Amino acid sequence: MALDKSYQKVPGTTIFDAEQSAKGYHLNQFCMSLMKAENRERFLADQRAYLDEWEGLSEEQKQAVLDVDLNECIRLGGNIYFLAKWGATLGLSFQQMAGSMTGMSEEDYRDLMLHGGRSIEGNRIADRDRADASVPTDPQADPIGDAVKEAAAARELPAPEQHATITGAVFTSHVPAIGAALDLGKADEPYWKRVFDGYEFSKAWEQENLPDVIFLVYNDHATAFDLALIPTFVLGTGASYPAADEGYGPRPVPGIEGDPDLAAHIAHSLIRDDFDLTLVNEMTVDHGLTVPLSLMFGQVEKWPCKVIPFHVNVVQYPVPSGARCFALGKALRKAIESYDRPITVQVWGTGGMSHQLQGPRAGLINREWDNAFLDRLVDDPAGLAQVPHLEYVEEAGSEGIELVMWFIARGALSDIDDTGDVEVVHRFYHVPASNTAVGHLILENKPRSDAADGE
Ligand code: DHB
Ligand code: FE
Repeated sequence: MALDKSYQKVPGTTIFDAEQSAKGYHLNQFCMSLMKAENRERFLADQRAYLDEWEGLSEEQKQAVLDVDLNECIRLGGNIYFLAKWGATLGLSFQQMAGSMTGMSEEDYRDLMLHGGRSIEGNRIADRDRADASVPTDPQADPIGDAVKEAAAARELPAPEQHATITGAVFTSHVPAIGAALDLGKADEPYWKRVFDGYEFSKAWEQENLPDVIFLVYNDHATAFDLALIPTFVLGTGASYPAADEGYGPRPVPGIEGDPDLAAHIAHSLIRDDFDLTLVNEMTVDHGLTVPLSLMFGQVEKWPCKVIPFHVNVVQYPVPSGARCFALGKALRKAIESYDRPITVQVWGTGGMSHQLQGPRAGLINREWDNAFLDRLVDDPAGLAQVPHLEYVEEAGSEGIELVMWFIARGALSDIDDTGDVEVVHRFYHVPASNTAVGHLILENKPRSDAADGE
């Protein structure tokens, strides 16, 4: 069931959505580079040479820039506010830029505006296929409209059995020292072996159940997001993310490859469901994301599947509630299952369990609370999601609040709305790893096929 994108039917209009943004990423970033005077000078001195420095630009995009063809730039993913930086570099006003896309002369367009602008009559969706539609002036020259029509037609093809499925959820702590132990060859030392032994089953299971994509819920720890920017929920819509340097030098682990297409789809679906996400194309990823991957895949040259990073702020209060994360998880399942490609997705919830990294109470561990959390996460997630922040802080230590992220993964499973069942295939709990209790669960998702397809 494809998402409704009826905005694509508005005549002579290209909505800059997540898909267009992915298509035009390098084009728009090239435009932004012209915010610097020295770059403007270099560009004007030799446009072709400057464009050739941008590896990600397609030849089509470069040619559109050289031809000063704004319609083509927009079709290829450009957005007018970005393109305006380039237009300004060429000495064009916004009116000249906009007018250049209408097929009218500069003078006629200025006149049109002086006389009240283009009429809405003839420019509504219902008018788009009428021969007398007034935009564009020459229907033969409507590359945007044609592209939009094609895209809309392609999306309207029903393909009910072709959708993504969530095959399971993995929950795990992400203690940075676990990554360091692996990187420094200490995994066989008794202290660390006790931790890694708990993941032996998981590594084999992960190989047997390798998904196409992991939707990995984690928190950044003042690495990509410092106090300059504190987004509550970040969806990574970019193509790749390098491993961060957290002060010790970057971990010797590969960066991750994203899935911009699925991420764009999820962005549409979640934001329409009123989750006000921050979309991020460029960031580094810290131990919150890389340590869970190391635990499940060991030391590899390349992670074996795509990973969509999803960051939750649990560093600076106010942080989202368990209930909010749980609701987001439900919406996430709807988003993933409405993606019309037959791929498999795992959702991971990471962070926790009990730990406190600050003050005289540092080192706090609460085994009983942690284990009750694991029990209830399986049997009573909706009830557990109601637990207030104060209880996490008091019972699981100040950093135990990371556990709210687990509800996003839990909410995405099919027993939540009774369209399937979950099976606990692995559970592990161990104290300590550094300052933290390590908790780990693997839940397989077993949607009933009639329910999964009948939506
Ligand atoms: C530790 C645990 C964490 O979750 C973290 O983000 C940093 C450090 C620790 O136990 O040392
Ligand atoms: Fe942490």
